[in-house]
Amino acid sequence: MCKIDGNTSVYGLIGYPVRHTLSPAIHNRLAAMTKISSVYLPFEVAGEVESAVRGAFLLGIQGLNVTVPYKNTVISALSAIDPEAERIGAVNTLVKTQNGYKGYNTDVIGLRRELKEAGVSLFGKKIVILGAGGAARATAMMCAADGAAEIYFLNRSYEKAVSLAEAVHQYTADEHRHEVIVRAHRIEEYHKLQNELIAFQCTSVGLYPNVNEVVISDSNFYKKLDIAVDLIYRPKQTRFMELVKQEGGVALNGSKMLIYQAVAAYELWNHIELSEELIGELINALHGEGLIDG
Ligand code: ATR
Repeated sequence: MCKIDGNTSVYGLIGYPVRHTLSPAIHNRLAAMTKISSVYLPFEVAGEVESAVRGAFLLGIQGLNVTVPYKNTVISALSAIDPEAERIGAVNTLVKTQNGYKGYNTDVIGLRRELKEAGVSLFGKKIVILGAGGAARATAMMCAADGAAEIYFLNRSYEKAVSLAEAVHQYTADEHRHEVIVRAHRIEEYHKLQNELIAFQCTSVGLYPNVNEVVISDSNFYKKLDIAVDLIYRPKQTRFMELVKQEGGVALNGSKMLIYQAVAAYELWNHIELSEELIGELINALHGEGLIDG
């Protein structure tokens, strides 16, 4: 650990609750590995997120991560926002500037990096997204920005899927992007989908401790999937991932995304790029401490 003195930079996480978080372990280890004098602490904020952000700025806190339930509401407390985070409507990383904090969404940067590492390109692909909440919105906007040809939502609440589909369609029209087909469906309409899909599981179904739950259990759905990502990282292998593999698909989980969103925040805060080797050492260290599944 580097010396803590009058020049040490302070970073943290705001959310509610935040005590279970892995972020301090990741960021304080990164500080030690890169020999940067900084500390990262959890700050449990029970309401009044705007006041908390103003206070953090006045205290000179250099950067913050933001988690549930403030990823949307924190936006009104920012002095600037990255265009991709604005489009997604959610921010998880704040970087201190002269006038206030600029907001970014490094969850998407993390997911993009996980896909790249796995050799998955979205360009020209057909995508199916389970869910229509915040995670689904971020994933869909990423797919549209990265050149997906078709995006299908399957959600329990059909109206939410329709309004998300409209938002994604609007984005592609505003940006004069290539023509993207975007459609909303009820979950039971999965049989209408074609084959060779890339799937993103963006609901909370299957999250620990409800590890046997899955939104769709019919093997015919999984036959349509070439590659599937479950954004859940606990458990390491979800029921959804098991079903994907049983039908011969490739299944990824959200644990790399978790590491990479932290790496991306650390890079933004410190204006550096971390090598793959250093990230590998970080992952090994976290495994060694039993903090992430190996
Ligand atoms: P997040 O920000 O993690 O995406 P969210 O915005 O609350 O969280 O979204 C949760 C998603 O999981 C929603 O798509 C939700 O479906 P509804 O829009 O119908 O609520 C989905 N979800 C949660 N529990 C579910 C369940 N038991 N079956 C099907 N979908 C479920």
